[in-house]
Amino acid sequence: MRVAIVGATGAVGHELLQVLEKSSLRFDELLLYASPRSAGTALKFRGEDLTVQVTPEGAIDADLILASAGGSVSQALAPKWVEGGAVVIDNSSAFRYDPEVPLVVPEVNGPAALRHKGIIANPNCTTAIAVVAVAPLHREYGVRRMIVSTYQATSGAGQKGMDELLEETRTALGGGEAGAEVFAHPIPFNVIPHIDAFQANGYTKEEMKVVWETRKILEDESLQISCTAVRIPTLRTHSEAITLDLERPATPEAARELLAGAAGVEVRDDPAAKLYPMPLTASGKYDVEVGRIRPSLVFEGGLDLFVAGDQLLKGAALNAVQIAEYLQQQGALKEKQRA
Ligand code: A2P
Repeated sequence: MRVAIVGATGAVGHELLQVLEKSSLRFDELLLYASPRSAGTALKFRGEDLTVQVTPEGAIDADLILASAGGSVSQALAPKWVEGGAVVIDNSSAFRYDPEVPLVVPEVNGPAALRHKGIIANPNCTTAIAVVAVAPLHREYGVRRMIVSTYQATSGAGQKGMDELLEETRTALGGGEAGAEVFAHPIPFNVIPHIDAFQANGYTKEEMKVVWETRKILEDESLQISCTAVRIPTLRTHSEAITLDLERPATPEAARELLAGAAGVEVRDDPAAKLYPMPLTASGKYDVEVGRIRPSLVFEGGLDLFVAGDQLLKGAALNAVQIAEYLQQQGALKEKQRA
């Protein structure tokens, strides 16, 4: 079994290597690809140096390809990888809205992955984190309406996002004027309510991804969702304030108990002990932290909660590897015939 990572030198690629090291996924060989800029770079995997190669224009001789090199690379190359016999788990948004392509968070809709025709899409990071917390509540109480406000880390924009936060903060602390290339405005000591492009309806694409993808993953087109997505000056982990209007009334106690038993969730909810979800505690963790669970003051029987999830992990690398593990456990990931 041969696994390839395309985009191995990026922020998500780095996490993919770490997660694969610890994963139960069985494979014999790992191939690493990136742009010509990184060709020849050595990356460590299980104590060995692996050399990064230039991503070829055509097929890659691998059984499983984990792609995280951006939408245009996936759009152009994933169909060729599939033609070459590989299963592709794609971290970009290129195929997420294609009805033929499953959009999967294994704890929530794992079996959907089995219906793939070569490509499985990994959801947008904000959506993946939200649905881990919301899906168990949706199953039990029926979410009717969902309002999300996000606090998103700079690594959502890749390694260059983190670099810009650190460099521009140093500039600002040195008395200079912080600049902006990756983000629309200087990010140090600021929050920016603008992630991805504005759409005709006044929402950003990032906000609409939460709407479209949550509906697709929960298989419920009737869900009413509204989102405000905001970039904040942290390095990693996206936090989200979520308000839920429910069909059947929930109490915070019952919701806490339900979420305590839910896969991928860590309930961190003891305000008196200053215990609640935060990037500082959620970063590096596989579970999504959920806390501040309280009755909604607007929707009778509804809930307000706060979640924090490492978006490079559950929002990207970890979720991709979990999809692969799920396929393998189900006997749906096989070595292709080689001459
Ligand atoms: P490179 O490091 O050589 O630029 P991030 O999300 O952190 O920005 O990372 C993006 C990843 O995608 C990096 O590994 C980057 O490689 C890779 N990448 C970017 N453009 C291409 C391309 N045209 N072909 C292959 N890989 C690419």
